[in-house]
Amino acid sequence: MRIAVLSETDPIETRVAATPETVKKYKGLGAEVAVQSGAGAKAGIPDGEFEAAGATIAHGAADAARDADIVLKVRRPGAGELSGLKRGALVIAIMDPYGNEAALKAMAEAGVAGFAMELMPRITRAQVMDVLSSQANLAGYRAVIDAAEAYGRAFPMMMTAAGTVPAARLFVMGAGVAGLQAIATARRLGAVVTATDVRPAAKEQVESLGAKFIAVEDEEFRQAETAAGYAKEMSKEYLAKQAELVASHIAKQDVVITTALIPGRPAPKLVSAAMVGSMRPGSVIVDLAVERGGNVEPAKPGKTHVTPNGVKIVGHLNMPGRLAASASALYARNLHAFVETLIDKGSKELAVKWDDELVRATCLTRDGAVVNPAFQPKA
Ligand code: NAI
Repeated sequence: MRIAVLSETDPIETRVAATPETVKKYKGLGAEVAVQSGAGAKAGIPDGEFEAAGATIAHGAADAARDADIVLKVRRPGAGELSGLKRGALVIAIMDPYGNEAALKAMAEAGVAGFAMELMPRITRAQVMDVLSSQANLAGYRAVIDAAEAYGRAFPMMMTAAGTVPAARLFVMGAGVAGLQAIATARRLGAVVTATDVRPAAKEQVESLGAKFIAVEDEEFRQAETAAGYAKEMSKEYLAKQAELVASHIAKQDVVITTALIPGRPAPKLVSAAMVGSMRPGSVIVDLAVERGGNVEPAKPGKTHVTPNGVKIVGHLNMPGRLAASASALYARNLHAFVETLIDKGSKELAVKWDDELVRATCLTRDGAVVNPAFQPKA
């Protein structure tokens, strides 16, 4: 059994799908591991460390992937990579399947079994495989660090001989995994933190971190959480009420961090240009949802810019990739935990249980077809 770890082709991607730690574990499962030369460079892992862990270093994606039964990546393989894969190979990555039907079709036609790690069910057994959580947690932390860097004032209150520096007022919109980590990080830095979400369960979590919860708590709010723990897309009426509440609050904030997402939908627009216009010069907004359309109307994907009224809007893409080493370490463990369930410990051979709940939820393509019911080509 052969596992290949490929380099990322998207220039924005700094993470890598395996670390020396997980290479050793794959060897322990009886696999040969081939790592494409340079795959770990941007995450601070030189080829030599993979080699020392027992991997062979392959030059180029085609060499690494030749005869591989399992191919590990951070992002979905592109057309150039697919052509080098063995038919029937398992390809495991963050596949970004929503709205990318053509890419899924190409993956099916290449004859590979593609697995999307972000579709992993949020059940106890699969917590260790939850890439959304492992990456969002780091993104939430990094968003606060980036906000502090962009902000021309101190976060904590400081009482000095020369006078008092007030604490920064920081507002987190969306209190899921990223938002809760942002709250905790901002509190540690001494900011005065408020937060909002549409799920009632978020209220207690926000308060337990010492932040104040602000939301329109109507009947729709009480029904806003799906069985899977995610937010529903809210009605126009709710979003209008929320905007009214948020507008007066935002005008008094120094820093806003937005993290609001709805699986499979564009990110909800929560901060309008007018709201940004009401903020004081020198304020900072970090939009973590910018890759999925953005929560902040004037945010620009991949750019940081200053609005005419002096508000800095930070729109970094791939926030977890800004902590490439930590993000890779956690992502690689998420992958290993899943791969382990696909291998028979006794025979040390690939033994995918196609009926398993985790396999069924994450498998996008198999035997030449898109098999996941949620991504069926439209008739
Ligand atoms: P997410 O990344 O899909 O969304 C981020 C946050 O945005 C969510 O809290 C969502 O409610 C919020 N949001 C959506 N629309 C909004 C709006 N209009 N205004 C304000 N906020 C809005 O969510 P994430 O981070 O994946 O977490 C979802 C839930 O799943 C959380 O309760 C989390 O604790 C839970 N979870 C459970 C796990 C498990 O049981 N294994 C693992 C990880 C998370």
